[in-house]
Amino acid sequence: MTMLDNLVPRPDPARALANYRVLAAGYDGTCRYIAPLRQRAIDALMLTPGESVLDIACGTGPTLPSLARAVGSAGRVIGVELSPQMAALAKARLLAEGLSGSVHIVEAAVEAMPPLQPADALLLCYTHDVLQSPAALERLIACAKPGARIAILGMKTVPWLWGWPLNLFNMYRARRYMTTFSSLARPWQRLEQRGASLRQVHTALWGSAYIVAGTLPHQIDAREAVSGQEPVARHCRQSCQPHLAIRRHSR
Ligand SMILES: C[S@@+](CC[C@H](N)C(=O)[O-])C[C@H]1O[C@@H](n2cnc3c(N)ncnc32)[C@H](O)[C@@H]1O
Repeated sequence: MTMLDNLVPRPDPARALANYRVLAAGYDGTCRYIAPLRQRAIDALMLTPGESVLDIACGTGPTLPSLARAVGSAGRVIGVELSPQMAALAKARLLAEGLSGSVHIVEAAVEAMPPLQPADALLLCYTHDVLQSPAALERLIACAKPGARIAILGMKTVPWLWGWPLNLFNMYRARRYMTTFSSLARPWQRLEQRGASLRQVHTALWGSAYIVAGTLPHQIDAREAVSGQEPVARHCRQSCQPHLAIRRHSR
């Protein structure tokens, strides 16, 4: 596959599934150097004991143990992951860390996430495809409390005038880890357009890695109110009861 395959406006979950089937086994080895950035994104969530947090597109689960520590035994941590191979490695990690009974993995596309109890906070680390999927954004907003806190870590482009070698290098390296290069200059912009209040709190790797943090919309989308449709957010608070058994973290 070439970088040209990623010049499409929307992510392609089928291609992501195929890519991660191959990438899963070597995934952790390729991204050890970003562990401090992941921790910084978790810190930006300012989690407190007893809170609930969703790790969206959690992959092999590198952030799950730290999230579990942050919310403590009274809190809840759920990872959502599309790829069965990545989810299996996340489950193995939880088992190895003694967290398999307390942190839950939902194996599903975010777009098709089952109803969950609305969460206090959401973490997205290197989830460019999810950020470019309007259906995924609606679903994650629906499964969070109004004004829930969110932190996003990922790759972005820097100004092409001086940064084109860095951009091309990063895009080449990232071509199999995302299926669209849409909005790479500001990957969080769709979420902002959807009403999230976000600010960039950190950059690294010469500006090509970002952390943004903030809050999801506090109220329902005005368009939903005008159209008379059942608002996604309200619908979720009525129906996102704990159909799913969410076990509590027990350390
Ligand atoms: C680059 S990995 C990041 C994994 C992890 N968050 C981390 O920090 O290492 C991107 C992950 O997003 C998952 N993914 C892609 N599209 C998804 C979707 N629509 N729903 C859920 N997971 C998705 C992929 O399967 C992959 O595991």
